[in-house]
Amino acid sequence: MTETTDRPAGPSLPRGFRGAEQGWPELHRIPRPPYRVPLLGDVVGASRHTPLQDSLALARKLGPIFRRRAFGKEFVLVWGAGLVADLADEARFAKHVGLGVANLRPLAGDGLFTAYNDEPNWQTAHDVLAPAFGRDAMAGYHPMMLDVAERLTDRWDRAAAAGRAVDVPGDMTRLTLETIARTGFGHDFGSFERARPHPFVTAMVGALAHAQRLNTVPAPLAPWLLRGASRRNAADIAHLNRTVDDLVRARREAPGKGPADLLGRMLETAHPETGERLSARNVRRQVITFLVAGHETTSGALSFALHYLSRHPGVAARARAEVDRVWGPTATPGYEQVAKLRYVRRVLDESLRLWPTAPAFAREARADTVLAGTHPMRRGAWTLVLTPMLHRDPGVWGPDAERFDPDRFEPKAVRSRPAHVFKPFGTGSRACIGRQFALHEATLVLGLLLRRYELRPEEGYQLSVTERLTVMPRDLRLHPERRTAPAAPAAAGPEDGGPDPAGHCPAHRTGG
Ligand code: HEM
Repeated sequence: MTETTDRPAGPSLPRGFRGAEQGWPELHRIPRPPYRVPLLGDVVGASRHTPLQDSLALARKLGPIFRRRAFGKEFVLVWGAGLVADLADEARFAKHVGLGVANLRPLAGDGLFTAYNDEPNWQTAHDVLAPAFGRDAMAGYHPMMLDVAERLTDRWDRAAAAGRAVDVPGDMTRLTLETIARTGFGHDFGSFERARPHPFVTAMVGALAHAQRLNTVPAPLAPWLLRGASRRNAADIAHLNRTVDDLVRARREAPGKGPADLLGRMLETAHPETGERLSARNVRRQVITFLVAGHETTSGALSFALHYLSRHPGVAARARAEVDRVWGPTATPGYEQVAKLRYVRRVLDESLRLWPTAPAFAREARADTVLAGTHPMRRGAWTLVLTPMLHRDPGVWGPDAERFDPDRFEPKAVRSRPAHVFKPFGTGSRACIGRQFALHEATLVLGLLLRRYELRPEEGYQLSVTERLTVMPRDLRLHPERRTAPAAPAAAGPEDGGPDPAGHCPAHRTGG
């Protein structure tokens, strides 16, 4: 157990980048890579395209807490389960808006994801929007999610009929973007019909890439080195703002006519206690935030899950048997039937364990404190939690932590683990507001795809991971092969209250 020290809290460190030298008085005790290049820092063996995977490699060498210096910035990274559990203590630590997240401020300002903890619009927007992610709202999104999923299966049916492979991350990104646009704002980007991405998507990807690029250039040199890129970024952001403003204007001109979506709620709902409403400028920022936060992460989670399913036929057969059993032959599974896919959900959890698609989050000390009783931190000092390594801590997940095994998420196994060891959605009051949305969407889509297709991997494919702000399997292609639908509703299994014939020999129940 650790506590906040009784030393008076020091002055908070300034906003913007806070070097570890300022915030960690005993930084020298934290291991760092052995070879440090003057000016550039710990760049030996590192690539600017894979900062996360380089950090994972260093984590394996340097242990549960370590530091890195890159382009004049020194920061501390943490992944040991005990240290992360301490950082989850909301009384002593809070979200830190720094590095990649702070770079998104020109795009998303004080929107939910990028707001500083003390910005009043965070609480207002959080309270106004929380019901939009509650059970009733989710049940309302379900039919829209099914509609979008149908556009995906139409596309995959055509590929299956032609014997063509599908571009999994590309198609999952089309699906999740259309889903958030439709359920959030009643908008259709036409992603499935276009050969090239919608200009809004191109501008969004450009702005995200720019935010990440800023991390790889020393701040004083950025105005010179990134002059052209900054001009393009300003044009991208202007395009995004214009598109969102048009959307909002159209809705304002027809108030109450839109569906009960996120935009409707933002425009028409007042704060339950203060009666305050979100300003036009803040609504714009929230719309952009949801479009950005709400699609690549879920798209990556689906893509990794499909990769693992294609590589583990036994797991796929068991998951498919569950879908056949729980859904039977119904063409359109209902909202409640999705939550009953317990094993499919475990496949998703296990994929998010190995590749949490938002692979890090940052925590800062609310007052002077000592992390896990060992590392003093000044008020405002921060650290980056490396979630993929937390999820592979052998002390928690065992010596085979790298192995894909959905049974790790059986209720008994989950109960036997300590708290705060599985954090794909972050932690505390700033954890992901879209968690249930993402899990419902992804479980539904996996269920639909498993039921409809056998998924054959491309010969020779080895998983490699692309990094933007999120992670994604690189060049993942699969061959979907149509199954025939299950003949008749099967008896309920144990996970939905009946016997479990599939548990004995799932492969015999897959049909097709
Ligand atoms: C598998 C999919 C997803 C993953 C892995 C994920 C992950 C995360 C993580 C780790 C955070 C915390 C970041 C931090 O502490 O800095 C976060 C925050 C957030 N996410 Fe998600 N997310 C997912 C899907 C979604 C979806 C579908 C939406 C919207 C519909 C969404 C909206 C947000 C928002 C608005 C925040 C900021 C919350 C706040 O600070 O109040 N996310 N997400």
